[in-house]
Amino acid sequence: MTAFTTKLLRWYQGHQRDLPWRRQNDPYKIWVSEVILQQTRVEQGLPYYQRFIHRFPDVGSLANAAEQDVLKHWQGLGYYSRARNMHAAARQLCNQYGGALPKTPEALRQIKGIGPYTAAAIASIAFGHPIAAIDGNAYRVLSRYFASSLPIDSSAGRKYFQDLGNQLLSDGPSGDFNQALMDVGAGICTPRQPQCTNCPLIDECRAYSLSIQDAFPVKSKSLQRRERSFHFLWVEDENCVAFEQRQAGDIWQGLYQLPLIEQRPADSKNAWLKTLTKLTDTKVAPQLVWHTRHLLTHQNLHIYFYKLRLTRQQTQALSNKSIQWVPFNNIAALPVPRPLEQLLQQKGLARH
Ligand code: ADE
Repeated sequence: MTAFTTKLLRWYQGHQRDLPWRRQNDPYKIWVSEVILQQTRVEQGLPYYQRFIHRFPDVGSLANAAEQDVLKHWQGLGYYSRARNMHAAARQLCNQYGGALPKTPEALRQIKGIGPYTAAAIASIAFGHPIAAIDGNAYRVLSRYFASSLPIDSSAGRKYFQDLGNQLLSDGPSGDFNQALMDVGAGICTPRQPQCTNCPLIDECRAYSLSIQDAFPVKSKSLQRRERSFHFLWVEDENCVAFEQRQAGDIWQGLYQLPLIEQRPADSKNAWLKTLTKLTDTKVAPQLVWHTRHLLTHQNLHIYFYKLRLTRQQTQALSNKSIQWVPFNNIAALPVPRPLEQLLQQKGLARH
């Protein structure tokens, strides 16, 4: 075993985080934890994991659930395709594998939503399969330790770090190796201001010895975020609020939202107001209730919420989907995007 692996595993014995999916070996629970943690920090994901497992304790209960229920348990975590894919995958597992997860990375990759990282994580942690699970944490630790400048977003880089991880874990306990790498990456070898003096790998870390930790990992593409402005309209009548369900093909698919007018970046400042006037065929006076910004990996959303008075007919004209009039009491049960959830909480709009 290399010095890297010996030190890493020894450190993990004394420092591993006590996390619920580490206390047992249930592949389903490990799968759920890995999907939640794909884009989410452990502290944020933990309560979601607990609620999710409580409501859907096994593959069968997830397969039998309604999509709205699954999305509601995901509300606020973002990247909702993760939840939709898991739901579909649970049905696939029931049909093809009798409700169990397959044991090899190759078979796991055939399941909806399971990519190379998640397949490796489940296969190693739940079944001891000798494969490295290379996530953002692992890329950072390995590229710094070896001062390796291969871009992690290139196919050559991905292959290089995967092979390197596989060699390093050699015949050691693969689940512990992978989770140790994640813990070092999350708690010590952080993107900014890494805590190198607490690191078990400090003695041989090339980036540390050259004081160039900040230079790693190297990426070939810089991230360009798409700017979008969303103008959401809160229309209520005596007992109900107008909602529409977002359709296929985007980040919030299946979630409920208020009628929306999107303004393109090239449009003039009040273009959305002109659209509103045109659609409703009247001069309306929306009142701005709240404004927020919502950063996604590839998008920067500028989000505005307005209250306004409209008839049901005018409201329907705002949407090319069918508007659903939801009683105030039922709003809390709808899965909604995070900014709308924040609005409902802050303004107490769901409680009338
Ligand atoms: N991030 C992704 N998977 C993880 C795991 N199993 N433990 C801790 N952090 C993780």
